[in-house]
Amino acid sequence: MLIHDDCLRGMRALEKETVDMIYLDPPFFTQRQQAARDSKGNIYSFSDVWDSRQAYLSFLKERLLEMHRVLKSTGSVFLHCDTSSSHYIRMLLDEVFGEDHFRSEIIWTYKRWSNSKKGLLAAHQTIFFYSKSKDLKFHTIYGAYSPTTNLDQILQERARNEMGKASYKRDESGAVVMAKEKRGVPLTDVWDIPFLNPKAKERVGYPTQKPIELLQRILRISTDEGDLVLDPFCGSGTALVAAKLMKRDFIGIDTSADAIKLCQERLSDPIKTESTLLRVGTAPYQTKTPAELAILNQFECDIVQRNRGIDAFLKKYYLGAPVAIKIQKETETLQEAISLLYMAGMKKRCSFTVLIRQNAEMSLADAAVPANMIVIDSNRLEVEENLESRSLVSHKSRTLEAQRPFTR
Ligand SMILES: C[S@@+](CC[C@H](N)C(=O)[O-])C[C@H]1O[C@@H](n2cnc3c(N)ncnc32)[C@H](O)[C@@H]1O
Repeated sequence: MLIHDDCLRGMRALEKETVDMIYLDPPFFTQRQQAARDSKGNIYSFSDVWDSRQAYLSFLKERLLEMHRVLKSTGSVFLHCDTSSSHYIRMLLDEVFGEDHFRSEIIWTYKRWSNSKKGLLAAHQTIFFYSKSKDLKFHTIYGAYSPTTNLDQILQERARNEMGKASYKRDESGAVVMAKEKRGVPLTDVWDIPFLNPKAKERVGYPTQKPIELLQRILRISTDEGDLVLDPFCGSGTALVAAKLMKRDFIGIDTSADAIKLCQERLSDPIKTESTLLRVGTAPYQTKTPAELAILNQFECDIVQRNRGIDAFLKKYYLGAPVAIKIQKETETLQEAISLLYMAGMKKRCSFTVLIRQNAEMSLADAAVPANMIVIDSNRLEVEENLESRSLVSHKSRTLEAQRPFTR
């Protein structure tokens, strides 16, 4: 169900204790008019400008009280905000839902690329998770162990010793006790979920649109199929689309007619961007072999993944432009490596490029090297070549020695 109205009125029309979960992503008190454009050039906007912080907090409190009323006793609320007001909002939530019903402060973190002004680049938003009572519905999600987890910690039972320290449990005979099968690491309160990129399929151009993946995670931990989800500030309807995809019922409320229209369109054809990064993790993006990493780590550089022409850029610029580094691959001739680096360096407007030669199939003197390219040998190649030439010399001198007439 979609309601085009102020959510205060919209919620007053709902029966008490009928909703299983509420997600709200209200204006954050940014004191800005939020606006964005879709791919067809339509502009969407909503106001986040307030007379005072007090006016903003009173607005929110009035609506939170209504949310508390419509929520079932097993229900939870997830309030999305950022540093503009999170410190005040947490106190409001304590007041309305009770300090004892605080469950988590979820940090949604994402990568951002920006030249930050003086200070730290903001790369997270906060989602406060409160329940209506202690008897909340909650499903634990388990994730994979990190590759650095000690295997013994997964396989062996642990116990506290007399000093209260955790150690591996042993039976009477002193043998280690194997642990029961584990399901993985329970989900933490820091969620690394990519922000919607400008070309994401699910992006509809609504300002501050959130990713469906984020909403699905909230729904997974707090609801079951058939549950009723309420989003009183639904905007483009991300929470509603997530609910529909996961077979939950939903109510979305928004004061903006544009937002309600977008919700209708999205709900009639729900599209979710599949994030490859989330599905396969970061490992496949790291394509460098340990040997290549060892070479690159000799330089102060930023490593580039999945690029045939460039493996890294020096951190320091020369002549006001970047310097690209490439390691010759086993499968590349020297001339191929030179031209791949040359082309990639041109594209990235590099002042210089550096090629690290890895095999001696062709002499450097025979190669056509551009004037702004430095070719150096990898340490391995240099040592191998040095050893080869010395072996040759000593083999020759040993042969000469052997041919010398025997004298006494
Ligand atoms: C941050 S946006 C929500 C974005 C949404 N989560 C999404 O992914 O598209 C906040 C929304 O709250 C709506 N809004 C502001 N005041 C409202 C009110 N009193 N009642 C209902 N909606 C309101 C705005 O129109 C805007 O669409």
